[in-house]
Amino acid sequence: MVKVLGISGSPRKGNSQFLLEQALEAARAVSPGKVECTPYTLRGKKFAPCVSCFRCGEQGGECVLKDDFQELRDLWVAADVVIYSVPVYHMGVPGQLKCFLDRLGNSLFGRYRHLFPAGVDSLPKLLKVVGAIAQGVHLCSGQEHTITDLVCHALILQCIPVTGDMWQSYIGAGGWTSNDIARDALARQAEAGEADAAVLVKAARDVGRRATEIALVLREGGRVLRDTLRADPAYLPFLERLGCADPTTAGGGSGAEPGAGQGTD
Ligand SMILES: Cc1cc2nc3c(=O)[nH]c(=O)nc-3n(C[C@H](O)[C@H](O)[C@H](O)COP(=O)(O)O)c2cc1C
Repeated sequence: MVKVLGISGSPRKGNSQFLLEQALEAARAVSPGKVECTPYTLRGKKFAPCVSCFRCGEQGGECVLKDDFQELRDLWVAADVVIYSVPVYHMGVPGQLKCFLDRLGNSLFGRYRHLFPAGVDSLPKLLKVVGAIAQGVHLCSGQEHTITDLVCHALILQCIPVTGDMWQSYIGAGGWTSNDIARDALARQAEAGEADAAVLVKAARDVGRRATEIALVLREGGRVLRDTLRADPAYLPFLERLGCADPTTAGGGSGAEPGAGQGTD
């Protein structure tokens, strides 16, 4: 089963949520019954900013701040695909999401430190597929900066950012609400067949679909190459997600056990 986590980065149920639903619907359609989508919204959640104590580096990645971070981190760690759908705030990522990303990044160093030799600060090759959707009220008002921030987040965490399809999506899905601040602006405009909203919906769906397709490819490739990858501890969290980190358990060894290198679950 491919696990797709969709994160709406808005504090309201609005345009980000609408585009996320489009992306997740397209993700599910890639392989019906074999894609599990978990929608998550930052609405009503609390993510305090990192306090730079660096304790997460010493205590297995546990953050000293207790709020909604832990729940979303666990969903993030378990996911094969993460789709972010965010409003542009001040030409960038909304603060609440930035708080989550800052804490996630640092805490993962602590979480996976045991995989590497003493003194080596590194991150495993998590190989999650990351797609980004960003929309703002104005045209050309921070969408690409925002998507770039999310692409950089994917890169630093050893994940794989994907675009949608040409020509609607060069680095992700970016668009605008045509100067309308209403939470249902894009849904209304798409329903009315307005061109910019239609392009944005297509781009969001493409991002969801492509991210899921690439995750399927990675799962199959990981299974085929598992014996080789197992020799490098940086791949262990990825192999654990595939259920083949341990050569002694079912599905973990080399050879032709059921589903190995063939199934998509
Ligand atoms: C604090 C704040 C900052 C914003 N900054 C921008 C901006 O820099 N560029 C832009 O196009 N829209 C900006 N907006 C507008 C939102 O991105 C826009 O209304 C978006 O559609 C909201 O998405 P939502 O419905 O998912 O909340 C801002 C809105 C807020 C509340």
